[in-house]
Amino acid sequence: MKHLIGIKDLSISEISSILELGEIYREKLLKDKSSISKDLNGKVVLSLFFEPSTRTRISFEIAASLLGATVVNFSENVSSVQKGESRLDTLKTIEAMNVDVAVIRSSISGLPYLLARDLDRIRIVNAGDGAHEHPSQALLDALTMKIKFGDLKKVRLAIVGDILFSRVARSNILLMNKFGNSVMIYGPTTLVPKEIQKIGNVKIAKNFDEVIEYANVIMLLRIQTERQNSSFVPSTREYKKFWGITEDKLRSCSKEILIMHPGPVNRDVEVASDMVYSDKSLILDQVTSGVAVRMSILYHLFNSTPNS
Ligand code: CP
Repeated sequence: MKHLIGIKDLSISEISSILELGEIYREKLLKDKSSISKDLNGKVVLSLFFEPSTRTRISFEIAASLLGATVVNFSENVSSVQKGESRLDTLKTIEAMNVDVAVIRSSISGLPYLLARDLDRIRIVNAGDGAHEHPSQALLDALTMKIKFGDLKKVRLAIVGDILFSRVARSNILLMNKFGNSVMIYGPTTLVPKEIQKIGNVKIAKNFDEVIEYANVIMLLRIQTERQNSSFVPSTREYKKFWGITEDKLRSCSKEILIMHPGPVNRDVEVASDMVYSDKSLILDQVTSGVAVRMSILYHLFNSTPNS
């Protein structure tokens, strides 16, 4: 794997290999960080975030550091981007400094693909591009579910919320489909793309009862007001009532349903405040898996997988 641009480019064996090593790294991370071998010793990893991030940026930086890489953080607001330098020229300049990996987040869908195409040597990792893909998020979600259920085939995933602007939804649908799983989708009609079936194998729920009936994991998504130029939901109160998860909605359900959220969570909008860190929530597990999966992603940039 030279770059990580999107889940759509990965084979099942590449995904399986990333998850397998991710699980090993997760064990080491939780038990004894000093047992992690410095497989990226001598490599330089640049963390280049043109959009805000807590989880993705910090976990990639921790992942690269634990593997022995030198980590450099790019701050756009004190860079020559402020003097009008383009993203491509910025990366060409950084490539000339012999940086090995650039982890990039941008609001521009397709930017990581264009940079990977136009640069010669540097390896590009997409840390989220606009509403297009967030591959490392889908991989960490898959690892979290695989650890919980033992096998992704046992997961019945429903994604609820702002599907239209969500790179997380796209990448998760693509990944689950590769393993033969359909994904249930539910959200305000204004936030479910009319052509959602073109992304992959999805079932669209008409109400929350259908979601509860189908799912053993419900992934709630944040309303991404930063990508919306008009109001797509009447009010946050109404959003919580119809699309938010609460203990009340799960009360009549006999099976166990776990909740996930890529974060950051709008408390009492997508997820009732008392559920965010409850025993039904995998939200912090996702964060822990995030460091492990990103270590595995960085490792796989320099080491090929079987059959790839
Ligand atoms: N899930 C996610 O991408 O979170 P951050 O924006 O904090 O990186």
